Amino acid sequence: MKKLLLAGALGFLILSCSKKENTEAQSVPSETSAVSEPVKANLSGDQIIETLDCSGCHAVNERMIGPSYKEIAGKYSDKDIEMLASKIIEGGSGVWGGVPMAPHPQVSKEDAKKMVEYILSQKK
Ligand code: HEC
Repeated sequence: MKKLLLAGALGFLILSCSKKENTEAQSVPSETSAVSEPVKANLSGDQIIETLDCSGCHAVNERMIGPSYKEIAGKYSDKDIEMLASKIIEGGSGVWGGVPMAPHPQVSKEDAKKMVEYILSQKK
Protein backbone atom coordinates (compact mmCIF):
# COMPACT_ATOMS: atom_id res chain seq x y z
CA MET A 1 0.00 0.00 0.00
CA LYS A 2 2.75 2.40 0.95
CA LYS A 3 4.60 1.44 -2.19
CA LEU A 4 1.54 2.16 -4.30
CA LEU A 5 1.15 5.56 -2.72
CA LEU A 6 4.79 6.35 -3.29
CA ALA A 7 4.61 5.31 -6.93
CA GLY A 8 1.52 7.46 -7.35
CA ALA A 9 3.19 10.43 -5.73
CA LEU A 10 6.27 9.99 -7.88
CA GLY A 11 4.19 9.80 -11.03
CA PHE A 12 2.38 12.92 -9.98
CA LEU A 13 5.63 14.73 -9.27
CA ILE A 14 7.07 13.84 -12.63
CA LEU A 15 3.90 14.85 -14.42
CA SER A 16 3.24 18.03 -12.51
CA CYS A 17 6.75 19.25 -12.02
CA SER A 18 8.88 18.43 -15.01
CA LYS A 19 11.17 21.33 -14.10
CA LYS A 20 12.22 19.59 -10.93
CA GLU A 21 12.80 16.37 -12.84
CA ASN A 22 15.07 18.22 -15.23
CA THR A 23 17.30 19.70 -12.56
CA GLU A 24 17.51 16.31 -10.88
CA ALA A 25 18.47 14.67 -14.13
CA GLN A 26 21.19 17.24 -14.68
CA SER A 27 22.66 16.88 -11.23
CA VAL A 28 23.10 13.14 -11.72
CA PRO A 29 26.36 12.56 -13.56
CA SER A 30 25.54 10.99 -16.89
CA GLU A 31 26.31 7.31 -17.04
CA THR A 32 26.87 5.08 -20.01
CA SER A 33 23.19 4.12 -19.91
CA ALA A 34 22.31 7.63 -21.06
CA VAL A 35 22.78 6.52 -24.64
CA SER A 36 20.11 3.85 -24.43
CA GLU A 37 17.60 6.26 -22.94
CA PRO A 38 17.12 8.94 -25.55
CA VAL A 39 15.20 11.99 -24.39
CA LYS A 40 12.37 12.26 -26.84
CA ALA A 41 10.41 14.89 -24.98
CA ASN A 42 11.34 17.69 -27.35
CA LEU A 43 11.11 15.73 -30.56
CA SER A 44 8.25 16.04 -33.03
CA GLY A 45 6.32 13.01 -34.24
CA ASP A 46 8.34 12.52 -37.41
CA GLN A 47 11.60 12.85 -35.48
CA ILE A 48 10.47 10.19 -33.00
CA ILE A 49 9.61 7.91 -35.92
CA GLU A 50 13.18 8.35 -37.17
CA THR A 51 14.58 7.14 -33.87
CA LEU A 52 12.50 3.94 -34.08
CA ASP A 53 12.08 1.06 -36.50
CA CYS A 54 8.85 2.33 -38.12
CA SER A 55 10.49 3.17 -41.44
CA GLY A 56 11.47 -0.46 -41.86
CA CYS A 57 7.81 -1.29 -42.45
CA HIS A 58 6.13 2.04 -43.26
CA ALA A 59 6.67 4.81 -45.79
CA VAL A 60 4.67 8.00 -46.35
CA ASN A 61 3.52 7.22 -49.88
CA GLU A 62 3.89 3.54 -50.58
CA ARG A 63 2.72 0.39 -48.92
CA MET A 64 5.59 -1.72 -47.66
CA ILE A 65 5.20 -4.39 -44.99
CA GLY A 66 2.72 -2.10 -43.31
CA PRO A 67 0.29 0.45 -44.81
CA SER A 68 1.61 3.83 -45.95
CA TYR A 69 1.07 6.80 -43.65
CA LYS A 70 -1.20 8.32 -46.32
CA GLU A 71 -3.39 5.22 -46.28
CA ILE A 72 -3.56 5.32 -42.50
CA ALA A 73 -4.38 9.04 -42.56
CA GLY A 74 -7.15 8.38 -45.07
CA LYS A 75 -8.74 5.70 -42.92
CA TYR A 76 -8.65 7.36 -39.52
CA SER A 77 -9.36 10.74 -37.95
CA ASP A 78 -8.32 12.63 -34.83
CA LYS A 79 -10.76 10.68 -32.68
CA ASP A 80 -8.69 7.54 -33.32
CA ILE A 81 -5.42 8.98 -31.98
CA GLU A 82 -5.77 7.27 -28.61
CA MET A 83 -6.56 3.86 -30.16
CA LEU A 84 -3.76 4.07 -32.74
CA ALA A 85 -1.25 5.15 -30.08
CA SER A 86 -2.12 2.04 -28.07
CA LYS A 87 -1.68 -0.06 -31.19
CA ILE A 88 1.84 1.28 -31.72
CA ILE A 89 2.71 0.32 -28.14
CA GLU A 90 0.88 -3.01 -28.01
CA GLY A 91 1.04 -4.07 -31.65
CA GLY A 92 -1.96 -5.05 -33.74
CA SER A 93 -3.16 -7.17 -36.62
CA GLY A 94 -6.04 -7.93 -38.91
CA VAL A 95 -6.85 -4.40 -40.08
CA TRP A 96 -4.70 -4.15 -43.21
CA GLY A 97 -4.05 -7.78 -43.99
CA GLY A 98 -2.43 -10.82 -42.48
CA VAL A 99 0.82 -9.24 -41.35
CA PRO A 100 0.83 -8.17 -37.69
CA MET A 101 2.42 -4.95 -36.49
CA ALA A 102 5.20 -5.42 -33.98
CA PRO A 103 4.62 -4.01 -30.47
CA HIS A 104 6.79 -1.14 -29.19
CA PRO A 105 6.57 -1.43 -25.40
CA GLN A 106 9.45 1.03 -24.95
CA VAL A 107 7.45 3.86 -26.54
CA SER A 108 5.57 6.17 -24.16
CA LYS A 109 1.92 6.96 -24.79
CA GLU A 110 2.83 10.59 -25.30
CA ASP A 111 5.42 9.77 -27.98
CA ALA A 112 3.04 7.32 -29.64
CA LYS A 113 0.37 10.02 -29.85
CA LYS A 114 2.83 12.46 -31.39
CA MET A 115 3.68 9.89 -34.04
CA VAL A 116 0.00 9.21 -34.75
CA GLU A 117 -0.62 12.95 -35.09
CA TYR A 118 2.22 13.15 -37.57
CA ILE A 119 0.93 10.13 -39.51
CA LEU A 120 -2.61 11.53 -39.62
CA SER A 121 -1.26 14.85 -40.90
CA GLN A 122 -0.06 13.06 -44.06
CA LYS A 123 -3.50 13.26 -45.69
CA LYS A 124 -3.36 14.07 -49.38
C1 HEC B 1 7.60 -5.16 -38.46
C2 HEC B 1 6.99 -4.17 -39.32
C3 HEC B 1 6.41 -2.94 -38.66
C4 HEC B 1 7.03 -2.01 -37.88
C5 HEC B 1 8.48 -2.02 -37.41
C6 HEC B 1 6.07 -0.99 -37.60
N1 HEC B 1 4.87 -1.29 -38.18
FE1 HEC B 1 3.17 -0.20 -38.08
N2 HEC B 1 2.18 -1.66 -39.04
C7 HEC B 1 2.74 -2.81 -39.59
C8 HEC B 1 1.70 -3.64 -40.17
C9 HEC B 1 1.92 -4.98 -40.86
C10 HEC B 1 0.49 -2.95 -39.94
C11 HEC B 1 -0.93 -3.43 -40.28
C12 HEC B 1 -1.48 -4.16 -39.05
C13 HEC B 1 -2.90 -4.57 -39.22
O1 HEC B 1 -3.28 -5.02 -40.29
O2 HEC B 1 -3.64 -4.44 -38.23
C14 HEC B 1 0.82 -1.71 -39.24
C15 HEC B 1 -0.11 -0.77 -38.87
C16 HEC B 1 0.21 0.49 -38.32
C17 HEC B 1 -0.75 1.51 -38.02
C18 HEC B 1 -2.25 1.43 -38.27
C19 HEC B 1 -2.90 0.54 -37.23
C20 HEC B 1 -4.33 0.24 -37.53
O3 HEC B 1 -4.98 -0.36 -36.66
O4 HEC B 1 -4.83 0.56 -38.61
C21 HEC B 1 -0.05 2.56 -37.49
C22 HEC B 1 -0.61 3.89 -37.00
C23 HEC B 1 1.34 2.17 -37.45
N3 HEC B 1 1.47 0.90 -37.96
C24 HEC B 1 2.37 2.95 -36.99
C25 HEC B 1 3.67 2.49 -36.76
C26 HEC B 1 4.69 3.24 -36.08
C27 HEC B 1 4.54 4.66 -35.56
C28 HEC B 1 5.79 2.44 -36.02
C29 HEC B 1 7.12 2.74 -35.33
C30 HEC B 1 7.02 2.91 -33.89
C31 HEC B 1 5.46 1.20 -36.69
N4 HEC B 1 4.17 1.27 -37.13
C32 HEC B 1 6.34 0.15 -36.86
C33 HEC B 1 4.08 -3.14 -39.58
C34 HEC B 1 5.04 -2.48 -38.84
